[in-house]
Amino acid sequence: MTTRHLIGMLLGTEDDWPTAFETLMRRLALRIDHGGDAHTFATERITIEPFDLRAKPRYSLVIDRLAYWYYVPREWLKKVALLDDVYLLNNPFTFQSMEKHAAYCAMIRLGLKVPETWLIPHKRPPENERFPYTASRYNQPFRLEEIAERVGYPLFMKPYDGGAWVGVSRIAGPEALRRHYDESGERLMHLQAAVENFDVFARSLSIGAETLVMRYDPSQPIHGRYQVEHGFLNPSLGDEVITIGRMVNAFFRWEFNSCETLVKGDEVSPIDYANACPDMSLISLHYYFPWAIATLAKWSAFCAATGRRMRVDLDLQRWFDIGDRDDLTYDGKLAEYRRLADGYFQVEEYREFCDRHLSHVDEEMVAYVESDDFDRLLVATVRATFPAHEHDRFVPHYRGLLAAWAADRRTAGVRP
Ligand SMILES: Nc1ncnc2c1ncn2[C@@H]1O[C@H](COP(=O)(O)OP(=O)(O)OP(=O)(O)O)[C@@H](O)[C@H]1O
Ligand SMILES: [Mg+2]
Repeated sequence: MTTRHLIGMLLGTEDDWPTAFETLMRRLALRIDHGGDAHTFATERITIEPFDLRAKPRYSLVIDRLAYWYYVPREWLKKVALLDDVYLLNNPFTFQSMEKHAAYCAMIRLGLKVPETWLIPHKRPPENERFPYTASRYNQPFRLEEIAERVGYPLFMKPYDGGAWVGVSRIAGPEALRRHYDESGERLMHLQAAVENFDVFARSLSIGAETLVMRYDPSQPIHGRYQVEHGFLNPSLGDEVITIGRMVNAFFRWEFNSCETLVKGDEVSPIDYANACPDMSLISLHYYFPWAIATLAKWSAFCAATGRRMRVDLDLQRWFDIGDRDDLTYDGKLAEYRRLADGYFQVEEYREFCDRHLSHVDEEMVAYVESDDFDRLLVATVRATFPAHEHDRFVPHYRGLLAAWAADRRTAGVRP
């Protein structure tokens, strides 16, 4: 029997990575024999419309980059997860309820080196007629400066559920503290100790069982943040960064997420890891873009062909049982978490599946990146992103980065 798997994409303004993903899938024209069936794949961009809660969706798997701000698809995702077993790369329930704050709490319990973090009440309280009476009875007065002293300067004030650097400030002293707090208005904020003079800012992008750790420079404009650099962490630190990203993902049932860690000496501090549905654009990922597209194709094919089930439920106690153990060191706990995470992501099975069925995906990606078709996408993306007077500079810039990726793959033995 042949099973045709339709991979749906929920998209907003982006056109670059979806086009690349669609093109790669078309070029690959996968036909995978697994479990006695032949599996083929097609892609489709999902449109937004009224839906019957009992309607049967046509998709086996959905890649979502939209529902984090648009609630119609968000609720549709919950429906297809609960009613139809559609495979979603991120659990929509935890994605909605576990914001940065919840992730900090969970990771502190698991023993990760989260910098000292406090939650402070809103500057402007919620508008609710009950508030004045409630506050007069129960709200303790507090001195913001005292909390900041305890956290220590410099510190970061940032939204408890933040994203895209909105409302994030680095604060050096009491005067700025007060000013930024006054400006925070209705936003609920954390104060978090700054990790100063770190050696490496490592941002890891995870797609299913694979994680790519990239050096990141937050002081650069968006197109220059990811650095093309290899070997910037020693193997043990590199592995620790991968473990942290993968355990966060397994814990929350996310598998399309990025995780930020600051490495100083031999200490790894995670600072931001609730970024499910991360930026996948050619402009920001540049050299790493083909890796992300190829990995998305591999992971989608693996999940759909093997019938991997999406997990809606959590299994927190198994993680806490490790985190709460007194007989394990930090490294010992990390090793246990890695075992759980690798098991959850079926790392072994995935590798075998890739070796058996998908060994030509990287070759096809190199051939695609070197094609005129890809060049047209690159030029169109640059034109859509940068002002006209910068096109002459950025087209060759991106061509150079993508050619460097293809050349590096060839050097590593991939033959298109
Ligand atoms: N504790 C910290 N120590 C040092 N730098 C920090 C710390 N917290 C945040 N930063 C800096 O501020 C930036 C934004 O913070 P954070 O990542 O927490 O916010 P965000 O709004 O989630 O950003 P995004 O979603 O775009 O990654 C980080 O990339 C980092 O450069
Ligand atoms: Mg961040």
